[in-house]
Amino acid sequence: MTPTNPTPARTQVGIVGAGPAGLMLSHLLHLAGVDSVVLESRSRAEVEATLRAGVLEQGTVDLLIETGVGERMLREGAVHHGIELRFDGRGHRIALSELTDGRAIMLYAQHEVIKDLIAARLAAEGSLVFDAQDVSIHDFDASKPHIRFTHADRKRQLACDFIVGCDGFRGVCRASVPANVRHEYSRTYPFGWFGILVKAPPYSPELIYANHERGFSLVSTRSRDVQRLYFQCDPDDSTESWPDDRIWAELAARLATQDDWTLREGDIFQKGIVAMRSFVCEPMQFGSLFLAGDAAHIVPPTGAKGLNLAIADVCVLSDALIEYYATGRRDGLGGYSALALERVWAAEHFSWWMTSMLHRFDDRDPFQQRLQLAQLKEVARSHAFQTALAENYVGHPIRRRASPEHLKRRPQKKRRGAYGVGAT
Ligand code: FAD
Ligand code: PHB
Repeated sequence: MTPTNPTPARTQVGIVGAGPAGLMLSHLLHLAGVDSVVLESRSRAEVEATLRAGVLEQGTVDLLIETGVGERMLREGAVHHGIELRFDGRGHRIALSELTDGRAIMLYAQHEVIKDLIAARLAAEGSLVFDAQDVSIHDFDASKPHIRFTHADRKRQLACDFIVGCDGFRGVCRASVPANVRHEYSRTYPFGWFGILVKAPPYSPELIYANHERGFSLVSTRSRDVQRLYFQCDPDDSTESWPDDRIWAELAARLATQDDWTLREGDIFQKGIVAMRSFVCEPMQFGSLFLAGDAAHIVPPTGAKGLNLAIADVCVLSDALIEYYATGRRDGLGGYSALALERVWAAEHFSWWMTSMLHRFDDRDPFQQRLQLAQLKEVARSHAFQTALAENYVGHPIRRRASPEHLKRRPQKKRRGAYGVGAT
């Protein structure tokens, strides 16, 4: 479908990127009657088919339910109350819920969250523009911020009060900020993750994070019939050099245990390699431009934090924008970056810690390997370490300045946005 009203227009909040951050922000703003337009460079089909995260923190789950987009997740997702750390050929359960007053995680794929959010935005006649090309942002340090883009071969301009860059790590928004006013902190790990999707019943009732001298591996799940497994690999490796037999042999070696558990082979129907990186851009606001999610920060996936951080960012930002439109006060907007970055750095630390504890680093450094084993044994032994791991893994409650009263208010009737009915 093409937009019903293709003339350049204005909106209150112009959002670049229809990932979890952009879609959730648009949804939260809509619930409080604030208008937004989401510009996405890929097609709806591509966005809905991108396979990424699987673990939702308790706070993310609660927010999806509270805001009316959790129904399918509650039906199809799986609640997990623990995870297993496996090393030295033995499993050690971290009892997430017991250690965190009953909090838990939900296994529900990121692209399913995206489908639910897109469906909700379109049902509310939200303005989503897919296939938006050559997106560029302008004058966010002045009083008339606007976004230019090409859609259906026509150049367009969208005037807005605020621009929010939810366009991921390689997006245009962060890159549009002059380098001398942003501070970037980064670390690239000397390994990647090889991920596979397998047609098979679940391998284990809970996720298994395994440390082995051959490298890290992870057993996760997607549904009763589809399982997700990862193993540490060379970041420059290619999927072609890993035929199925080699993958199964490697996973069997890394997951070998003296416990009662064996790895069953299944039909591998998808393979891919992801890089491992930590990255933070400070601040997360530049004039009328705000950054949220992967556009501002990246964590290695070992802590399962990326999507959850993206959701926490937009939760804080939506409160601030809603407060501004309701009262004219800018306190929340001014405090967004500092409040979001507190959570970001905590998640950076947790993700770095999990990554450091579980992966094989330099083969020539046996001292480092002994330290790693000592750390794992300490976690397996110590209630205090397990509690710290569990609290971080299920996620701390999202700190919000304002009480989210607006979530209880009925959404205002939709004002026609720049493009009326959402496009595909
Ligand atoms: P993105 O999802 O990257 O969305 C950005 C959107 O912007 C994209 O749709 C993109 O097409 C669009 N875009 C980019 N440039 C432009 C442009 N110029 N114009 C318009 N649109 C643009 N996180 C977890 O919490 N739990 C997990 O279990 C987990 N597992 C992971 C496993 C893997 C293998 C990987 C790779 C990641 C994992 N993550 C996990 C991280 C998580 O997937 C990301 O942190 C999350 O997608 C961030 O959401 P986002 O909306 O900020 O960015
Ligand atoms: C996943 O299921 O994709 C997944 C699970 C846990 C992680 C990362 C990814 O830490």
